Amino acid sequence: MNMNLLTLMISLCAETSAYKITQVKVPLYADPRRAAELSCHFRMDDHKLHSVKWYRDLHEIFRYNPSQQPQIRLFNVTGVMVEGGECESDWCLVRVMPAPEATRAAYSCEISTEGPKFMIARETKHMTVVAMPDKDPVIYGAPKLLKPGDQIVLNCTSDYSLPPSDINWYINDELQKPELWHRSELSAVQPGGLRSSWRTLRISVPSDASGSLRVRCEAVLTVEPPVVRDTSAVMTLFSRTQLSKYMFNRGSRIGYRDLMLVSVMFINLNRKLSVSWSL
Ligand SMILES: *[C@@H]1O[C@H](CO)[C@@H](O)[C@H](O)[C@H]1NC(C)=O
Ligand SMILES: *[C@@H]1O[C@H](CO)[C@@H](O)[C@H](O)[C@H]1NC(C)=O
Repeated sequence: MNMNLLTLMISLCAETSAYKITQVKVPLYADPRRAAELSCHFRMDDHKLHSVKWYRDLHEIFRYNPSQQPQIRLFNVTGVMVEGGECESDWCLVRVMPAPEATRAAYSCEISTEGPKFMIARETKHMTVVAMPDKDPVIYGAPKLLKPGDQIVLNCTSDYSLPPSDINWYINDELQKPELWHRSELSAVQPGGLRSSWRTLRISVPSDASGSLRVRCEAVLTVEPPVVRDTSAVMTLFSRTQLSKYMFNRGSRIGYRDLMLVSVMFINLNRKLSVSWSL
């Protein structure tokens, strides 16, 4: 290798390693109900630190100037309330309370050396405001047994989250596409901007239907990657015609236990169902 080039490379390395940000810790997800802690660790070597700044997107939210009074200044900006900060010789920490909205923002730490050069180093990480659901969604209104001709309305309600969940319904693993105008309905807003959502599914059981019916409800949080929680319910169908045939063949009276047996035997015999979305 050319000696001049080698010398140049060594001096370049020396130059860039002399002051640098060694680690920036920003949580990937921030819960809107509590403050998030962001920290910036750096190394100055022979250089003197002039300032450490934190930015949310392009807006400055924190400034540390060891040679000024006060040393630390905080700036509230749209989308975040800055609760506090502290610094030592090789790190600074800032506590922010995100606004209760599902947003993604870039947080950058910037260190600067003393004048006259004021050389800077900067590192950026993203934080998304999300409140994950704690529980699976709940299906209301599903009876254990269904009779032909029954009309039922199921209601799937998700747990509180930010952003609110989208609800999907499946019947025997088939997605029930809602009409465009039929979106998930939202509850009133809770502290931290959390909401629960619900969507109904109307089922009309045809007079010749039998077998069983499995419904599943999915609550999907559209974050990256999506968070999915689900729950399902199985309802047993029995038809009077098939039941009476069975009774005729057996030639005997049947009791409650036999009835349960019959309904189990008819599982998967017939899955014809008419399904529609309720408003
Ligand atoms: C930021 O806003 C909160 C709430 O309004 C307030 O208590 C706090 O003092 C503000 N901080 C700054 C640095 O303005
Ligand atoms: C569905 O259930 C939720 C929660 O129990 C309730 O707030 C909502 O009004 C119900 N919707 C219908 C159409 O029953």
